[in-house]
Amino acid sequence: MSKYECNHHMTGFLKELPKCEHHVHLEGTLGPDLLFPLAARNNVQLPSHFPKDVESLNKRYSEFTDLQDFLNFYYIGMSVLIQEQDFFDLAWAYFTKAHADGLHHAETFFDPQGHVERGVSIDVVVRGFERAAQQAEKELGISTRLIMCLLRHLPPKDGLATIESARPYYKAGTIHGLGLDSAEKPFPPHLFEECYKAVRDSFPEVGLTAHAGEEGGPEFITNSLDLLNVTRIDHGVNSFQDEDLLKRLAKNQTLLSLCPLSNVKLQVVKDVSELPIQKWLDFGVPFSINSDDPAYFGGYILDNYIMVHTRFGFDLKTWCKIAANGVNGSWISDARKKELL
Ligand code: HPA
Ligand code: ZN
Repeated sequence: MSKYECNHHMTGFLKELPKCEHHVHLEGTLGPDLLFPLAARNNVQLPSHFPKDVESLNKRYSEFTDLQDFLNFYYIGMSVLIQEQDFFDLAWAYFTKAHADGLHHAETFFDPQGHVERGVSIDVVVRGFERAAQQAEKELGISTRLIMCLLRHLPPKDGLATIESARPYYKAGTIHGLGLDSAEKPFPPHLFEECYKAVRDSFPEVGLTAHAGEEGGPEFITNSLDLLNVTRIDHGVNSFQDEDLLKRLAKNQTLLSLCPLSNVKLQVVKDVSELPIQKWLDFGVPFSINSDDPAYFGGYILDNYIMVHTRFGFDLKTWCKIAANGVNGSWISDARKKELL
């Protein structure tokens, strides 16, 4: 399958590029090696049909049929997270791994509703993640942003209540963004207009993004832009079906946060070579390369970069442009951008 080689020299180059991650779910960094010990530590009973050991769980993770099949495991997985220390340990493990991959800036998603509905307070979740992010800034030199996602399979009024409970953290600048994830097709963007408006009205400086065009068509992307006023699109794969949309994304320099290995594992495409990456480059649509749920999809950020190289074989200049687009599309100060470029 591999059309191009990613030799030792090229891997080193990709590692050295100033990489920024904009699409990683902290709960999606929870691998089987941490899941079972945490379940034991917290006395969490996993469902009877759940694979019983690391090997069989990893095998099941290699067989996802679509987004919903993955999400069923993702929500069971996060049920082992109970204490503030669990959230800290999880995020810290991610930051150290990503640092080893040559990551300089991380904008990380989390799903508070997946915890609050199990009786874990948003304060426990945010405090654990915030502490890990602060340590990553201090000890690893990674700049960080925390993006709260709403689960689109839950009622929008639940989303509004979640926003209310997060107000202190938006006010304090602990949470920097709002996103929208979970099952896409049955829950289109218009359902969440009021939620996005609530955050926009109170905190105009907060970054807005939404998963769109992963399984949904290009209209999910257009409607996210029009109705939710997002300035970034997570995945955005299906934008390639609408040339007017591609022109609009290019004109506004709206960043797509692409997740190549995820797209293959969830059968959005059969192979990374099918992703419309060349089309985005031709139209001037900026995109970044991300890991999504690395513990479930078999690779962290550098693995995703390497996979794209083996399929597209870009020259160094193109790679530098892709990295620069990632820096410029980050929710950071101009001073920090300058440092990274
Ligand atoms: N899509 C939708 N919801 C998600 C994803 C994703 O890729 N990862 C975690 N929750
Ligand atoms: Zn995602």
